[in-house]
Amino acid sequence: MGIENILFAGETLFKNLNVFDPDYTPSNYNFREEQMEGLAITLRPIFKNSRPINTVVLGQCATGKTTAIKKIFEIVKENKGDVVCCYINCQLHNTLYGVFSKIYKEVMGVEPPVSGLSTTKIYQIIVEELKKKKFNLIVAFDDINYLLNEVDVNKIFYDLLRVNEEYDGVKTGVFAILSDIEFRFKLDKNVGSVFSPHEILFPPYSYNEIHDILLDRVKGGFYPNIISDELLEEITNQTYESGDLRVGINLLKVAGNIAESNGSRFIEDEHVDEAIAKSVSVNLKQSLKSLSKEEMELIKLIAKEDKVLNAKDLFNDFNKKTGLKYHKFNSVLNKLEFLRLIDVKFTGKGTRGNSRQIILRFGVEDVKKCTL
Ligand SMILES: Nc1ncnc2c1ncn2[C@@H]1O[C@H](COP(=O)(O)OP(=O)(O)OP(=O)(O)O)[C@@H](O)[C@H]1O
Ligand SMILES: [Mg+2]
Repeated sequence: MGIENILFAGETLFKNLNVFDPDYTPSNYNFREEQMEGLAITLRPIFKNSRPINTVVLGQCATGKTTAIKKIFEIVKENKGDVVCCYINCQLHNTLYGVFSKIYKEVMGVEPPVSGLSTTKIYQIIVEELKKKKFNLIVAFDDINYLLNEVDVNKIFYDLLRVNEEYDGVKTGVFAILSDIEFRFKLDKNVGSVFSPHEILFPPYSYNEIHDILLDRVKGGFYPNIISDELLEEITNQTYESGDLRVGINLLKVAGNIAESNGSRFIEDEHVDEAIAKSVSVNLKQSLKSLSKEEMELIKLIAKEDKVLNAKDLFNDFNKKTGLKYHKFNSVLNKLEFLRLIDVKFTGKGTRGNSRQIILRFGVEDVKKCTL
């Protein structure tokens, strides 16, 4: 063991490790003033005892949607005792019963009895309680796409929103949070007129915004002078490329851990390189795991050889393999682009299919390894 290791093995570079946790709520939440104002405006009517405006919150992954909802709910809870704010993570609560149990818990303060009340009964108890206490209710459905696949969202929204018509003095409102544009249309189709929402958009962060947010984490999470400006820039670059702020936050944490386990007093080039190599494969695996059968077929075809493909040839291969038509091919291609697995480049030459080039964003070998 080197002298450095002996001296520093027990030391930590982290002032506060929580700062890098996925569910950490940052105290400094910049670049989202407009969206926070938008949320406040849609909620404001409830403070004047009229109906809040139903809202769709839309933006790509890691653009701060969940954080914004949690922040606005915190503010409402602190200031207004008669509004129940219910946050539902639809990945966890993706059944009708699951959703109403979560609302029950928030309104009643306890879990529904295990004896197994029907959803209708649970709904009645919730409404009775709201009426009795003259409470208003706001429900945020985060990542509602998970719900759209499982249950009749129309029924949930209808039940929640008809309270406004049926009971004087009790107001309810709904937030639907989405990161996949495809589901925006599905939502409209499914819940249509009951919902008629206002929309708040969360655009992707710019390079400089990502840099500032990551710098904030560095200041909050590490002791001073642990990472150089150059390395932070390298991490910012990687993050910007990936289009996912979480990549950067995680890279900082992993690089810090690697530096620490090497007994280093600060993060060095090689620690960042190692963290990046690890993170690329984790991200790739995660994205591939979420693919449907057709999407998986297409990515396999794209990763078959290490060369740039044009869309027309790719479609021919895809069609041979799956029998699916051009329209479906296009939507699968869009999905892969949305997930940032591929880039689609217009060359401006040739006919429709010929003029698009498909470029894999990962190494062919890496993709092959993960799609076996
Ligand atoms: N403006 C910001 N300032 C500081 N941290 C931020 C900001 N925006 C997002 N983050 C951080 O980025 C991560 C992702 O944010 P969040 O979970 O709010 O994104 P999201 O839009 O809900 O993503 P997803 O669609 O994947 O659920 C979190 O760790 C969050 O703290
Ligand atoms: Mg979220």
